[in-house]
Amino acid sequence: MKNKRILVIGATGNIGREVVKYLFNYKNNHEVFAAVRNIDKASYEFEDYQQLKYVKFDFEDISTFDGALDNIDSVFLLRPPHISDVEKYFRPLISKIKEKKINQIVFLSVQGVESSKIIPHNKIEKMIVDSGIDYIFLRPSYFMQNLITTLHKDILEKQKIILPSGNAKFNWIDIENIAELAAILLDDFDNFKNQGIDITGYENLDFFEITNLINKTIGTNIIFESVNPLKFYRIKRKDGLNKGLILVMIFLHFLPRFQSEPKISKFYENTCGKLPTNLKEFLLRESDKFKK
Ligand SMILES: NC(=O)c1ccc[n+]([C@@H]2O[C@H](COP(=O)([O-])OP(=O)(O)OC[C@H]3O[C@@H](n4cnc5c(N)ncnc54)[C@H](OP(=O)(O)O)[C@@H]3O)[C@@H](O)[C@H]2O)c1
Repeated sequence: MKNKRILVIGATGNIGREVVKYLFNYKNNHEVFAAVRNIDKASYEFEDYQQLKYVKFDFEDISTFDGALDNIDSVFLLRPPHISDVEKYFRPLISKIKEKKINQIVFLSVQGVESSKIIPHNKIEKMIVDSGIDYIFLRPSYFMQNLITTLHKDILEKQKIILPSGNAKFNWIDIENIAELAAILLDDFDNFKNQGIDITGYENLDFFEITNLINKTIGTNIIFESVNPLKFYRIKRKDGLNKGLILVMIFLHFLPRFQSEPKISKFYENTCGKLPTNLKEFLLRESDKFKK
């Protein structure tokens, strides 16, 4: 594939960090630019990736868009969880991408986005389609890594997972699989362009089942407490979480109670020629994070 100049937005986050690594480890034939708010912090985090370049980029400072997008061929785009005003931040960014004649966007969306008009990703996808820029929407299911990020504090400090999710089933996907596929899509964009691609693991498990699996695999004693949304809100406010984030968590974990089980996609296996990570493999790989 022809060498490209690829800009990775959200490069210091869970997904972006892995996308950068896969871009270097996959074929290492592209110039990769990390679009970051703090270049010093990012270059420290990526000190092993000497070829990585950095550009200043802040969704909340439109004046950074022009420079960050200079001479770029392809953009890996995601929505940082706290950026909810899509009109304010994404519309000018997408216009600028168009103005700069960049014609490849790989956008990290979310599985089920097509049927939910409320989630911001739905609006972002529509904006990209309307712009006429070629795109790939990568739509993952529920990250396995939520267990060691958003849910981690309760697991370690309370030996509990507390969520308003009842018996709702979630499909569990490893971020490493998402990033690996994203690197392939960025590299071989023309073969996959202008479609939405689901990426999932092969296991649909509810939180009772996942806590049992963690305990069985790692020898912990974690319990799952399913609470109603109001109680969840009160607990999380007491823990000091901001209101917006609690509402997103309620949305993500309560609504699936009224939806059918997530559909399983074979796209990762068909494209990468191997099975996605299963939960047991993930738990063993990250086992030290489940113990204090
Ligand atoms: N969790 C799930 O199960 C799940 C499932 C499907 C889809 N998703 C989607 O995945 C996305 C989140 O990805 P993630 O977990 O990688 O996020 P993350 O770890 O929270 O990372 C967010 C990234 O965005 C950057 N960022 C934050 N504010 C910014 C700003 N104002 N300007 C520029 N950069 C900014 C952060 O940089 P700093 O280092 O400067 O903070 C960081 O690199 C969301 O859109 C979510 O809906 C999540």
